[in-house]
Amino acid sequence: MTPIAVFASGFGSNLQAILDAAAQGRLQAKIELVVSDRAKAYALVRAKEASIPAFVFNPRDYASKADYETMLAARLGELGVEYLVLAGYMRLIGPTLLERYPNRIINIHPSLLPLFPGKDGIGQALAAGVTETGVTVHYVDEGMDTGPIIAQKRVPVLPGEERSSLERRIHGVEHRLYPRVLQQIFSQEGTKC
Ligand code: GRF
Repeated sequence: MTPIAVFASGFGSNLQAILDAAAQGRLQAKIELVVSDRAKAYALVRAKEASIPAFVFNPRDYASKADYETMLAARLGELGVEYLVLAGYMRLIGPTLLERYPNRIINIHPSLLPLFPGKDGIGQALAAGVTETGVTVHYVDEGMDTGPIIAQKRVPVLPGEERSSLERRIHGVEHRLYPRVLQQIFSQEGTKC
């Protein structure tokens, strides 16, 4: 079992997909901690329902990103967390955590990166009028959705499609793809000497 922490700022449907996959044995990971920068995130309700400890912090209580990331790194270290899994975490990861977890921070983004990085990848794709978008799982670096790509899945945009429909289909793809890709990464880790 790979010990992981899931970072989520919002609704947490990807967190739920990870929790479900772990509970069903499709993902050999132990979710040690859910980290959130928003006390009202619904992801925290999901963590509570799954009896996973949560760590909530308000960045405004800290003088700098380095300060709160140092505090987070200490907590993650105590728990022996090996990978940080971002699932709708709305902050850039800074050098403190990047240095502590080299190639061990993973993110999911709702577009075919490098297209439409940053906020609202789905809205950006619709505004651009593309006929195809998708989902990307990638390693996190210091940029905004710029790290090395691990996996992508294409999603066609249907003619005249409403945002709610495209969103639903993209989220469905995310929920299947993310646990599967995480499992691939963790199982390769297990076979290294
Ligand atoms: C997902 O679309 C994910 O790709 C992006 O943020 C959204 C989070 O959704 N990074 P949820 O909170 O997991 O429902």
